[in-house]
Amino acid sequence: MSSPLKVAIVGASGKVGSFVVKQLTNDPTHFATPLALVRTPEQVKHWKSEIGIDAKLTSIENDDVETIAKAIKGVDAMVFSAGAGGKGVERIFTVDLDGCLKVAEACEQVGVKRFILVSAIMAENRKFWWNLTGLREYYIAKRSADRKYIHANKAEADFAEHKEIARQDVALFIKEALLHPKETNRKTIPLVNGTVPVNDFIKELA
Ligand SMILES: NC(=O)c1ccc[n+]([C@@H]2O[C@H](COP(=O)([O-])OP(=O)(O)OC[C@H]3O[C@@H](n4cnc5c(N)ncnc54)[C@H](OP(=O)(O)O)[C@@H]3O)[C@@H](O)[C@H]2O)c1
Repeated sequence: MSSPLKVAIVGASGKVGSFVVKQLTNDPTHFATPLALVRTPEQVKHWKSEIGIDAKLTSIENDDVETIAKAIKGVDAMVFSAGAGGKGVERIFTVDLDGCLKVAEACEQVGVKRFILVSAIMAENRKFWWNLTGLREYYIAKRSADRKYIHANKAEADFAEHKEIARQDVALFIKEALLHPKETNRKTIPLVNGTVPVNDFIKELA
């Protein structure tokens, strides 16, 4: 069996991010102790002393690519689930867009081969979001960050049937995607809650 994957998470203190940390720490056979990249000393203390995972103080807005690269040296995979949470256009661009691109560039610098970006459903469909009040800039940022590597597939059809996914299920899928690179690499994978168990869904992606 291959050695456990070391995964770094940007946005570990967020809702999806903290479920991802739980998923990974509950599966020590496949995952080494995760690394949380966080932006306050209090968060570093929380993750290290209270939760017992690795944590580093890293600002995806203010640090340069080289600094971020240094912080993630040695990890096998990156999960990016940070988001400005709609706190103004400037932060959407510095976090959701440029922050994400900087982390991706840092991964390239140090040879982190897997990058999972938690995006926004229907980001590829400009007609869907162009007139959504207050969301246009957010979607521009998400779509542009997505397109660094990959192209869309059938987001529209999936979204028409179901409209939501629980964040716990996003985290479960992220863990499974890390374990199934062949089926999930270089893909935009729209996710909504439905009736297909995650393992069957992953097989369908092959
Ligand atoms: N409709 C959709 O498709 C949809 C719906 C929901 C979410 N999403 C996306 O899913 C992802 C995760 O969502 P969520 O609900 O988990 O969000 P969340 O709870 O708001 O968490 C966002 C995380 O981003 C971090 N963050 C914000 N600014 C940062 C910065 N400058 N540097 C580093 N970290 C920063 C926050 O850190 P702090 O803890 O330090 O504040 C937080 O941990 C986001 O990218 C969001 O856009 C998409």
